[in-house]
Amino acid sequence: MTDSPLSRLSRDLSGLMLKTSPADLEFYGRDWTRRWAPAPLAIALPASIGEVQAIVRWALQEAISLVPSGGRTGLSGGAVAANGELVVSFERMNRVLAFDPVDRILAVQPGLALEALQRAAIEHGLIYPVDFAARGSCSIGGNIATNAGGIRVIRYGNTREWIAGLKVVSGSGELLDLNRGLVKNSSGYDLRHLMIGAEGTLGLIVEASVRLTDPAPASNVMLLAVPAMQALMQVFSSCRRKLGLSAFEFFTDRALAHVVAHGAQDPFEQVSPYYLVAEFDAADETQQALAGEVFEECFENGWVNDGVISQSSSQAASLWRLREGITESLAPLKPYKNDISVRTSAIPAFMQAMREIFDREYPECEVVWFGHIGDGNLHINVIRSASTSEEAFIADCERVTSLLSETLARFGGSISAEHGIGLVKKKYLAGTRSDAEIAMMRQIKRVLDPSGIMNPGKIFDSD
Ligand code: MLT
Ligand code: ZN
Repeated sequence: MTDSPLSRLSRDLSGLMLKTSPADLEFYGRDWTRRWAPAPLAIALPASIGEVQAIVRWALQEAISLVPSGGRTGLSGGAVAANGELVVSFERMNRVLAFDPVDRILAVQPGLALEALQRAAIEHGLIYPVDFAARGSCSIGGNIATNAGGIRVIRYGNTREWIAGLKVVSGSGELLDLNRGLVKNSSGYDLRHLMIGAEGTLGLIVEASVRLTDPAPASNVMLLAVPAMQALMQVFSSCRRKLGLSAFEFFTDRALAHVVAHGAQDPFEQVSPYYLVAEFDAADETQQALAGEVFEECFENGWVNDGVISQSSSQAASLWRLREGITESLAPLKPYKNDISVRTSAIPAFMQAMREIFDREYPECEVVWFGHIGDGNLHINVIRSASTSEEAFIADCERVTSLLSETLARFGGSISAEHGIGLVKKKYLAGTRSDAEIAMMRQIKRVLDPSGIMNPGKIFDSD
């Protein structure tokens, strides 16, 4: 091998697994956005923290950027390597390391799949409550890097709430052991929280201490057909008042059509413009009866015109499929994705404002709304019409996303609720974060990543 940065890496770190075949560069260089052509230098698959530190030292010496890589299920380009970077895949660092029953903390490696983490929690009689459809493929490291949310945020919060400690190799190669599982720690800046949601721009997460909790009470799922947008929040208030909600999700008739075309079962005879999925505690007959009361109240007021309450876990799963299968059913169409949040109370006015903009600006595109409406988080997926080129479509969506960003600013919302900024939302960051905040973020990056080797170009460009 000629003397090159990569040959020096193999020489200095003889046990390190490296992949360089064109198929691997393609496979590891992209995420679910599929918009950028992958072009990494190579893929490193470290097996230990020591190897990760050695990779960072090498990257500093060679001035080569690093892109951390988990399950690559991200939807905003955060794990894309398109500029000769070394992808650091945590695929081999995917073990549960230890469980402490007193602290109820599981120490895990970053490459552990979310579903494997959930299973490990159950083995200890507890749960890890963060959950979403990509559970089988995404990794906990990636979840932490985007502060992933999902379907149970309304009860359990985002990933951030469950991270009791983090080990991170910073951009200067230091191993930081942050918070160490402490419940109480009032000793200056909590750098752990800075790393959560940083999309790998400050350092590489090499270990996480994840807090577990008691198993959830038995639950049922209710699917409600809603005739009008204004009724969505009325149904929400009614459900919240009477039920112990663990999820409150929404989708439109268009989303339903796609998911049904992919094999899900529509339980209703009539089409409604909106649907809500509520998951609620149903441990006893009293709780179960409350769901009936909620339905009656909503029905009598004209807020819902049909509904189904699951009678078995398999029926609950098929109702959930109607919501959770949406992303997969749309994926072949390569939709342009928005992932926004506003305060939940602002949802009706915001939706109305955006509907007017989308009707006017997307005359030829199909706009599919769904999401975690109980958290104020909506996913708006726009589908290209057959007559528009991919390039023209993206340009058009970017123009309309600027209008979305302006509307979000008026409503005090955010351009990304849970997918992250990555490459996709970078140009809109300034719409909902102030110049002063972005300048401070840049300064923070300079402190933790002085050479700018950690996932550069994601979230914002360095100045
Ligand atoms: C979901 O909640 O299903 C995903 O986060 C949304 C998406 O695919 O846009
Ligand atoms: Zn989501």
